Amino acid sequence: MERDEIVAGVRRLFDLVADSYDAVGVTLFEPIATGLVEAVGAAPGDRAVDLGCGNGVSSRALAAAVGPTGSVVGLDLSPAMVERAAAALEGSPTEVAFVVRDAQEPDLAPASFDAAIASLVVFFLPDAAGAVARWVQLLRPGGRLGLSTFGPSSPQWQALEAPLREFMPPTDPRMAGPQSPFASDDGMAALVAGAGAVDVQTTSRRVELAFDDVDHWVRFSRSVGQRIAWERMSADQRSRVLDQSRETFAELAGPEGSLPVWQQVRYTVGSAPGGPGRS
Ligand SMILES: C[S@@+](CC[C@H](N)C(=O)[O-])C[C@H]1O[C@@H](n2cnc3c(N)ncnc32)[C@H](O)[C@@H]1O
Repeated sequence: MERDEIVAGVRRLFDLVADSYDAVGVTLFEPIATGLVEAVGAAPGDRAVDLGCGNGVSSRALAAAVGPTGSVVGLDLSPAMVERAAAALEGSPTEVAFVVRDAQEPDLAPASFDAAIASLVVFFLPDAAGAVARWVQLLRPGGRLGLSTFGPSSPQWQALEAPLREFMPPTDPRMAGPQSPFASDDGMAALVAGAGAVDVQTTSRRVELAFDDVDHWVRFSRSVGQRIAWERMSADQRSRVLDQSRETFAELAGPEGSLPVWQQVRYTVGSAPGGPGRS
């Protein structure tokens, strides 16, 4: 698939889920973003940029860290997401600005930020290596870049998602094979170091959550990037997947009827060369 076609597909996908993203009673994106902001060491007064800011979950965490003396610029491809991010941070004591833009070509002044984050974004990019190299250039010497990506998830969650796999496009991050940079700590470290960052380090965190029942999981699944799989099914296929999901959920759920799951999150952080860093 051509690069422009991939980018247009991602924009359509996130416009479609913008209303429900992070709004179905599953606490996942906020703890992931908070962990990333901590890992990158964003501090009061920092000028920060949120690349692929979505509906503002990660921008909120960044604004809380940089405080009223700092500033946050958020970029996203999806106009619907950007609209929600701007609304979510309306009245923030931090100076904030949101723009619809392809984060691969951020078109921001070089060396103008102390911190840059991209939470759960880099695996959507057709040219991740090129984009990350441009992100490093946005930082002042010693400024910090942090990326969050998905590590392994619990076997129960994987079992629930299994019937969706045949409908995922090959470009989906969950279809990335073991050679992909997104499949390992080393792969991500190589991506960030290859983009020109120094002192690259990876940490990880496990986020735990639960689905109340199978419908809750379906609502979640349709509110995130996985929505693409649901959109690619015929009505018959959807009803087969739903039957399978009900069966799997019933087998795995605890006595209360809910299903606890976990997701490991990888934080890869590096610094722009030429500075003391913050270590
Ligand atoms: C999983 S969401 C993460 C959003 C947010 N960072 C968070 O922590 O919730 C991925 C976001 O990346 C955005 N995105 C994907 N490719 C992009 C690109 N090339 N430029 C800008 N945004 C992009 C999508 O539109 C979507 O809002």
